[in-house]
Amino acid sequence: MKHFDITIPVTEVTFDELTQGDRDLVEAAREATTRSYAPYSHFHVGAAIRLDNGEIITGANQENVAYPSGTCAERSACFYAHARYPEARFETIAIAARGTDGEEVEAPIAPCGACRQALLEYETLAGHDVRVILVGRHRIFILPSVKSTLPLAFVEF
Ligand code: THU
Repeated sequence: MKHFDITIPVTEVTFDELTQGDRDLVEAAREATTRSYAPYSHFHVGAAIRLDNGEIITGANQENVAYPSGTCAERSACFYAHARYPEARFETIAIAARGTDGEEVEAPIAPCGACRQALLEYETLAGHDVRVILVGRHRIFILPSVKSTLPLAFVEF
């Protein structure tokens, strides 16, 4: 028998420590939370993806009265980004959220499993790491890649 651990690297930064490009992406994700349609959960998530053509594409969670028919902010952003600019490659994604009190969450939230798998598709397509920035009110986490968020991911066989 063999035991091994899988660890993921997380860098915590303050807003001021971000580059201007990352600040813009973080603000775009925060702003996208205002376009969330979340009449059921009242939890508002925004995602912003920087593409290598210079565009920033945003998405927000879109809920549905038939709950599973809704989708998360990350998937609404990544599917739209690739539908709008199929030739462009992802560089970085930022994810922000506001809780049921309407305030930005104190600690960052992380994408759900389905969104990690969906985002991994576009990282694979890019052929390089796509950074993930998780945004809280005072805490910001940077992960070096989508694959780091999904250890033992299912990949093409
Ligand atoms: N949600 C996202 O948009 N992204 C996540 O990473 C987790 C959850 C949404 C789905 C639902 O509309 C609401 O947040 C509450 O789960």
